[in-house]
Amino acid sequence: MVSISDPAEIPTIYGFNPIFQKSDFYHVLLFYAKGKPVPTIFATQNDNLHHALRKPISTIYGMSKVVSFEPQVNSTMEYFFKRLDDVFADKDQVCNFAFWLQAFAFDVIGEVTFSKRIGFLKKGEDIDGIMGSIWKYFTATSPVSQMPWLDLVWTKNPIKQRLSRAKPNPIVNFAAARVEERQTRMKKALSSNEVLEKRDFLSQFLEITQRDEQIPPFALAAWTVSNVTAGSDTTAILLRSIFYNLMRHPKSMRCLLDELDAAARNGRLSQLVTWKESRGLPYLDACIKEAARLHPPFALPFERVVPSGGATICGRRFQAGTVVAIPAWVAHRDVDTFGKDPDEWRPERWLCEETRRRRMENALLTFGAGHRVCLGKNVSYLEIYKLVPTMLRKYEISFAEPARPEWTVKNRWLAHQFNFNVKLRQRVVDQDQTPLDLYD
Ligand code: HEM
Repeated sequence: MVSISDPAEIPTIYGFNPIFQKSDFYHVLLFYAKGKPVPTIFATQNDNLHHALRKPISTIYGMSKVVSFEPQVNSTMEYFFKRLDDVFADKDQVCNFAFWLQAFAFDVIGEVTFSKRIGFLKKGEDIDGIMGSIWKYFTATSPVSQMPWLDLVWTKNPIKQRLSRAKPNPIVNFAAARVEERQTRMKKALSSNEVLEKRDFLSQFLEITQRDEQIPPFALAAWTVSNVTAGSDTTAILLRSIFYNLMRHPKSMRCLLDELDAAARNGRLSQLVTWKESRGLPYLDACIKEAARLHPPFALPFERVVPSGGATICGRRFQAGTVVAIPAWVAHRDVDTFGKDPDEWRPERWLCEETRRRRMENALLTFGAGHRVCLGKNVSYLEIYKLVPTMLRKYEISFAEPARPEWTVKNRWLAHQFNFNVKLRQRVVDQDQTPLDLYD
């Protein structure tokens, strides 16, 4: 695989004309359930299948449609704060923020997809080992993805498949149960002329499958499972990166809090910050972009195959069939694009004149680019731009061990134990010195 560092080549490799197909790297990432591959929008290398799966639903993921899920995000945020208040806030209890942010990200995606949280926040623990299994999966799969021939002994090993067939995947099970539940309700509603109010992803997916007979039968499963698998730990990683960097850089934290407090004083901030309000917070926007630049959650290179006829990249000719990629972690440290200090946390770099800012934005590969750009980017943005300001207004967050302000991974290979330990105190913000109370 030829690793390319110049962000100026993003349109060549990830653009629409010609399309560079995904490499066998993605074959390794094909999701298996009950011993069989589940075709997903993300991993499929087949362009026709990709088109058939992505096109019917792409409009639901546009920002104007995604904001309609704001009430579901609000309801999970309220529940999240309630749980943090019950267990940690002002109680001198150590909170593993890494876990709780992931629990939030999982539950919110459950709520917008099925109008049902998966249950991590309620339980306060890793249900059915789902988080642990994601950790193990990527720890094992990442090296294999760099040597796809190893896949023959890994994912496609018949003995492994036979063993895993007996072990149902909890996310697939959860999604299948919600789909079945909803279909039963819809049938009942149809016979009694009842109108179902729910406007979550599932209700819209079902409408689409009913309207269009060309849609493959496995699409419903592919869409629902995709939402949960592609949209939970990725969002959690970005949230952790934002909070962690703000905590490591008190000046940035102060600057952001000043921006939030000023907006609140001027009546431009609700207690549960709305998507619209968050768009008027330039320093918040700069911090989120800087975290997405410094620590893009999807860290492996997005590999592509040079199409027939070959291609010229960075002034060199590459033959058809050559595998190329621009790794986000490399592009995001391009000195010409981001300035002389690309390894540093400096949100101010985004508060510059428009041409420069646009150049930096076009070089961001956090959500991929072009033909196969992330479908759920707006869903994540909705969650992140609401949660971060609301949470920082509600809590003072500090490292549980200020002398060791690091996140740690225990038992790297065997089990998932990812610690980012903090303490939470209610932040006193209004004039009568009472903490923000966000739920009844
Ligand atoms: C911070 C959160 C997220 C990050 C960093 C992220 C990152 C990415 C990246 C880098 C890609 C493209 C990879 C490539 O070119 O191979 C991608 C694709 C995709 N993402 Fe996300 N994602 C996030 C959230 C979400 C959410 C919330 C959803 C669903 C609700 C989602 C659904 C998808 C899908 C379906 C694709 C495949 C698109 C295609 O191939 O056409 N993602 N994501």
